[in-house]
Amino acid sequence: MKKKDVWRIGVAGLGTVGAGLLELVSRRPHFAPGGGLVSVTGVSARNRAAKRSVDIAAIPWFDNPVDLARSTDNDIFVELIGGSEGPAKAAVEAALAMGKPVVTANKALIACHGAKLAALAEANGATLLFEAAVMGGTPAVKMLREAMVGDEVELVAGILNGTCNYILSEMEASGRDFRDVLADAQRLGYAEADPTTDIGGFDAGHKITILAALAFGCAPTYPAAEVEGIDQVELLDIRLAKDLGYRIKLVATASRSAGGVSVRVHPALTPLDHPLARAGGALNALFIEGRTIGRIFIQGPGAGAGPTAAAVAADIADVISGAVRPVFQAPATTLEPFIPIDQSRATGRAYIRLLVKDEPGVIAAVSESLADAGVSIDSFLQKSVEGADGVPIVLTTHTAPEAVLSEAVRRMSALPALLAPPRVIRIARI
Ligand SMILES: NC(=O)c1ccc[n+]([C@@H]2O[C@H](COP(=O)([O-])OP(=O)(O)OC[C@H]3O[C@@H](n4cnc5c(N)ncnc54)[C@H](OP(=O)(O)O)[C@@H]3O)[C@@H](O)[C@H]2O)c1
Repeated sequence: MKKKDVWRIGVAGLGTVGAGLLELVSRRPHFAPGGGLVSVTGVSARNRAAKRSVDIAAIPWFDNPVDLARSTDNDIFVELIGGSEGPAKAAVEAALAMGKPVVTANKALIACHGAKLAALAEANGATLLFEAAVMGGTPAVKMLREAMVGDEVELVAGILNGTCNYILSEMEASGRDFRDVLADAQRLGYAEADPTTDIGGFDAGHKITILAALAFGCAPTYPAAEVEGIDQVELLDIRLAKDLGYRIKLVATASRSAGGVSVRVHPALTPLDHPLARAGGALNALFIEGRTIGRIFIQGPGAGAGPTAAAVAADIADVISGAVRPVFQAPATTLEPFIPIDQSRATGRAYIRLLVKDEPGVIAAVSESLADAGVSIDSFLQKSVEGADGVPIVLTTHTAPEAVLSEAVRRMSALPALLAPPRVIRIARI
C-alpha cells in the first residue's frame, strides 16, 4: 500500500481485545515504526448502548460489521468479533473481496476457513494477518511464517490454552479438584461462563491447526485435528504423575512424517524438568523444531486485552510497512492438501491408572494383559489412597503402536478385579 500520513482503521468487535486495541491506539497512535498516525474511523459491535471501558462517542458507529468492512472511510479492517461463521466471516470476506487488508485475532475463523480466505485475499491483492490468533501477545505466527522459512519444520508442540494451563496448575498447587478450580477460574475471569471451547481442547485445536498450516505449508483443516480436553483429568492423576516425575499439561502437537501430518491436542504427562512442564499458570509456551536450526522455545502471555491488542497492532504495523507475504507459508494456490496420518499406526508411551480390588493375583493379571497385547512396562507404582475403595495401580509403558496400547487397555478393562475403567493419559514425546 502507498505511504500515508494517516492510516484509518475500522474495528469490528469492542470486547476484551477490541477495547484493548482502541486504548492502545489512543495512547500510542504512532505505534507503527516509520508509518503515519493510526486513527480509528469506524467501529461496530452488537450493542451500541453497552457500557465500555473506552470512549467511542466520537467514532462513527456501524450496526452491521459488513458495512464497516465495505466502508471507504477505513484503509484497514480489523475483525475482533470471534467465531468461525456469522458476522465475523461475512465481514472479513467483504473486506478481502474489495482488496482491503484485514487483521484478525479470530483463530476459529482462520482454522476453519483459512485456505479459502487466503485464496480470496491473494486473488484480490489484499493482506490477511492473524498474529493475535495464536498465543495472544507471544509471536508464534510470525516465527513460523517469517523466521523459519529457511528451514524445514518437523515438529511444533506447545501449551496453547491459558485457561487449561491455569486450571491444571491450580489443581496441582491447591490440591482442589477440576470442578472446584474451574468455578474459581470463572469467578476470576480466567474462564468463560461457557468454558467448553477452552476445557474441551477446541481452542487449542484451532491454534495448532493454524500452526501446522504455517509450519508445513498445508491448508488449515480444523476438523482433522484430534482433540481431547482436560475435563477428565483427576487430581489423583496429577499427584500420581508427579510421583513418577511428570506434570500433566494440555499439549498441542503438529508433526509431519512420510504418511502425512498429525495434529493433536490432549492431556499429556510432561517430564517435570521440561520447559513445557515449567510453564505454569495462564502462560502459553511453544517448541518449534527445525531440521537444521534445532529447537526453539518461546513462552509468554496467550491472552488478555493488552498482550492481544499489541499483537493486533503489530499486524497493523506490517500492513502499513507494505510487507506482502503469502497468508500461510506458501501462496494459497500451492498449499498442499492436509493429509492426516493414520493415528492407530502412530507410536507412543502411556500412563495407565487402574483401580483394582485389593486381592492376590491382580498385579500378575494386569502384567499378563499387557504382555499378551505386546506392551512392555517401563515403571509400576502401587499406592493405597486413604478412603478409596480399592487400590490404584499406575504403570507407564515403553513405546508401542497406539493400536497395540488400545488392545492392552481393552484386555485390562475385562479383568474381574477392576473397579473402574482404566484411565489412560499419553506421555508427551517432546
Ligand atoms: N480475549 C483474549 O484474550 C483473546 C486472545 C486471543 C485471541 N482472541 C480472539 O479475539 C476475538 C475477540 O475476542 P474477545 O475476547 O475480545 O471477545 P469478546 O470480549 O466476547 O468481544 C466480542 C465483541 O464482538 C461483538 N459482537 C458479537 N457479535 C457481534 C455481531 N453480530 N456484530 C457485531 N459485533 C458483534 C461484541 O459486541 P458487544 O460488546 O456489543 O456485545 C463484542 O464487542 C476472538 O476471535 C477471540 O478468539 C481473544
